[in-house]
Formats: sequence, C-alpha cells, structure tokens
Amino acid sequence: MYSDKEFWDKRFDDEGKVWGEIPSKSAHHAMELFRKHAVKSILIPGSGYGRNTRLFSASGFDVTGIEISTTACELAKQFDPASKVYEGSVLEMSFVPGTFDAIYCFNTLHLFCENDRRQFLQECLGKLVEAGLAFFTAFSEEEPSFGQGREVESNTYESRPGRPTHYFTEDDLREHFRDFEIIETGIVHEPEDHGGQPHTHILRYIFAEKAA
Ligand SMILES: C[S@@+](CC[C@H](N)C(=O)[O-])C[C@H]1O[C@@H](n2cnc3c(N)ncnc32)[C@H](O)[C@@H]1O
Repeated sequence: MYSDKEFWDKRFDDEGKVWGEIPSKSAHHAMELFRKHAVKSILIPGSGYGRNTRLFSASGFDVTGIEISTTACELAKQFDPASKVYEGSVLEMSFVPGTFDAIYCFNTLHLFCENDRRQFLQECLGKLVEAGLAFFTAFSEEEPSFGQGREVESNTYESRPGRPTHYFTEDDLREHFRDFEIIETGIVHEPEDHGGQPHTHILRYIFAEKAA
C-alpha cells in the first residue's frame, strides 16, 4: 500500500496539474468573505500545485501552503512563486512558523479517518490568530460516489485500500467544527474535468471563526 505521500506524488507525477489551473469556485466565495473580514494572511493546508493559493496571492493576500507531495510543491513553486509552500503533513503543522488570519482548505479534510480529521482541525485552531477564520470544503453525502467501496467508519468509504473518503452530512460537518463559532454553511456544486470525464462534485462548505 502507498503512503499518503507516495500516493499523491505518483498522482501529480502521472497527471501534472490534475484539476487544471482555474481555482475552485469556492475560493472566490472564500475570498469575498475574507475581504469583508479584513484578512491579510491565509494558510492553505493541502495546497496541491497552487491553483487556489495563486488566486489569493495574486489578489494581494499573504499566502502560505502546506502540502505533503514533493512533486506538487515543486509544481507550486513554478505556478505560484508568490506564495510560500511548506512540504509536510497537515496532521502536524508545528514546522510552519507563525499564525494566520484565516485558513482556506479545499477538499482535504475528507481524506482522513475520524481521529486524523479531529487532529487536523486541532492543528488548524493552533495556527489561527484569535478570532481567526476558517473556510473548508469537503465531500457531502450527496456526492455520486457516496456508499461505494468498503465502509471503514461511519460515512467513510475506501474506494481503494488505505484511501478513505469521508462524506459529510450538515450535522456531521457542524459537529466537527464544535470548537469554532459557525458563521455559514452550504452546498457548492464544483465542476471538474479530469480523469477523462467532466463531472460535478456536490461539496459542503463551512465558514467559521475560532471561538474565544
Ligand atoms: C483533493 S487534493 C486538493 C488539492 C488542492 N486543494 C486543489 O484544490 O488543487 C488534496 C491535496 O491534499 C494533499 N494532502 C493529502 N494528504 C495530506 C497530508 N497529510 N498533509 C498535507 N497535504 C496532504 C494532497 O497531496 C493533495 O494535494
């Protein structure tokens, strides 16, 4: 079985900029919200090759990514040289200096089993300033692939051995963010065109503030 790093390195080696160069729709939404709240610095865990970091850095934000894949980090340095990127795991982020006004995280939280999801969110809390903001997207239970593969935990399925995907209901997502003040949640239809077939993901997003 591949480790996470080997899996993602192979994916980026084989497919390059897997999701194209255009940022996620949700990144535009997050940016509007961040602007309203006068955010300056943004941390992006699971930043990939930088299609979302680039939107924020080109718009004047001070952006830092964390990414486990060496290949993705190398691609990101070319594609978005204005952002900093640290190679390592989002499950232990102490190697990234400082704290941030906001976190934007696209489709990385659902890649983990429960203990790791909770640890990841605790790490995120530790990286936010007081009243810092978090905007996350993740797979919802309305995704077409929901229920496929072996169920390894509640609403978590392995499409391939060792590769869990968690599907969030509204209540579940809110419960994961119980240490935050939740400001807004919703569904986002995210069109993608990779793997030979255009398709649309049905994601949930959550916008929340670090509780006092
Ligand atoms: C579904 S992709 C999304 C990539 C990026 N957010 C985007 O939209 O282009 C998930 C990303 O998380 C990264 N990743 C997976 N596990 C990780 C971990 N434990 N620590 C840091 N990054 C991780 C992967 O390498 C991949 O770049």
